[in-house]
Amino acid sequence: MSTHLIDGLGRRISDLRISVTDRCNFRCFYCKSADPMNYSGHDAMSLEEIARLARIFASLGIEKIRLTGGEPLLRSGIEKLVAEIAAIPGVRDVALTTNGWLLPEKAQALADAGLDRVNISMDAVDRAKFTEITRTPDAYDKVIAGIAAARRAGLEPIKVNAVLVRGMNDDQVEDFATFAREHQVIVRFIEFMPLDADRHWTRDLVVTAEETRRRIHAVYPLEDFTRDTPSETARKYRFADGHGEIGLVAPVSLPFCGACSRIRMTSDAKIRTCLFSTRDHDLRPLFDRGASDAEIAQFIRDLTLHKEPRHHINDPDFVPANRSMVFIGG
Ligand code: GTP
Ligand code: 5AD
Ligand code: SF4
Repeated sequence: MSTHLIDGLGRRISDLRISVTDRCNFRCFYCKSADPMNYSGHDAMSLEEIARLARIFASLGIEKIRLTGGEPLLRSGIEKLVAEIAAIPGVRDVALTTNGWLLPEKAQALADAGLDRVNISMDAVDRAKFTEITRTPDAYDKVIAGIAAARRAGLEPIKVNAVLVRGMNDDQVEDFATFAREHQVIVRFIEFMPLDADRHWTRDLVVTAEETRRRIHAVYPLEDFTRDTPSETARKYRFADGHGEIGLVAPVSLPFCGACSRIRMTSDAKIRTCLFSTRDHDLRPLFDRGASDAEIAQFIRDLTLHKEPRHHINDPDFVPANRSMVFIGG
C-alpha cells in the first residue's frame, strides 16, 4: 500500500500548513487575528504536539511544511520547532508565512535552525497606506528591515504577499512591481477571498490576476513561465528585461482546487482539509486518550478521503460562510 496521503479524488496531499498561534500583533482590517476578542485562548497545541504531528504527517508523505498563524514568530520556541521539523526525513521544504515584524531579531536563528525560506505579508508599499491597512504604527520600517534580515540570513527566495482589495490598495500595483525589482523579492498579488473577519467581501472588491498582469505588463513587460508544480498557488511571470519575477495568486478568477495538495492544522489541534471547510477534525480527543502515532495516522488517512473537491466562491448561489483566516494563516 502506498504510504502517500491521497484524497477521495485521487489528489496527492503533500503540503501541510500548521498554524502555531492564532495571535497577531498587527491589526489588518480584513483579518480576524486583528482582534484579541477572537483569540481562542485555550487548547493551543504544545510545541511537542506540533512536532509529533509533523512527524506523523511526514510518515504519510508530506514533503512541504509551512508554519503560519496568526503571526507564527510570536510563538516562543518557534526556532526549536523549526529545528525539529527540519530534521524530519522526507520534509524537503520548511517555510513560514509571517508579517515580518520579528524577522530583524529572528531571521538568522530561524535559518540556523533549518528554515528554508519565508513569505512576508505586505499589502502596501506606501508607508501611510501600510499603516492604514495594518493599523500598526511603526510596522513599516520593521517589515522592510525584516526583508533585509531574511536576505542576510539566506531565507530565499523571499516572497512578498500582497492581498489586493479594490479601493484600498489597488493603486499600489505598479509600485509593488517596482519594489519587486528594486528589492529582488517575488511580489505575489493575491485575489481577496471571502474569508475576511467582518464579512466585507464582495466580488467587486476582487482585483483579478488578469487586471493586475495587464497593468504591470504596461509598465514592465512580463513573460509567463510555468509553476514548479500544478498545485502551486501562484502563476509565475518574469520581467522580460531579466530583473526578477512576480506571482499572481488567483483563487477567485482561476481556482486551483483541481490540483490542490494542501491540508491544514489549526493552532487548537484541528485538521482542516480545505481553506473553505465548514467542519474541522479535532485531534484533541485523540491526544487526550493517548492515541498512538499509527491511530492518528489512520484518522488522518480516513478524513483526507473526504477533502472538499473545491471552493464554491463562483457558484451562483454562493454565500460567504462565517469563516475566516483566523487560526489558519491562509
Ligand atoms: P509557496 O509555497 O511559497 O508557494 O506559498 P503559498 O502560496 O502556498 O503560501 P502563502 O502562505 O504565501 O499563501 C499565499 C496566498 O495563497 C494566501 O492568500 C493564501 O491564503 C493562499 N492560499 C494558500 N493555500 C491555499 C489554498 O489551498 N487554497 C486557496 N484558495 N488559497 C490558498
Ligand atoms: N484573501 C486572500 N488572502 C488572504 N490572506 C489573509 N486573508 C486573506 C483573504 N481574505 C493572506 C495573508 C497572508 C496569507 C497567509 O493569506 O495576507 O499573506
Ligand atoms: Fe484546496 Fe480548498 Fe484551497 Fe481549493 S479552496 S485550493 S480545494 S484548500
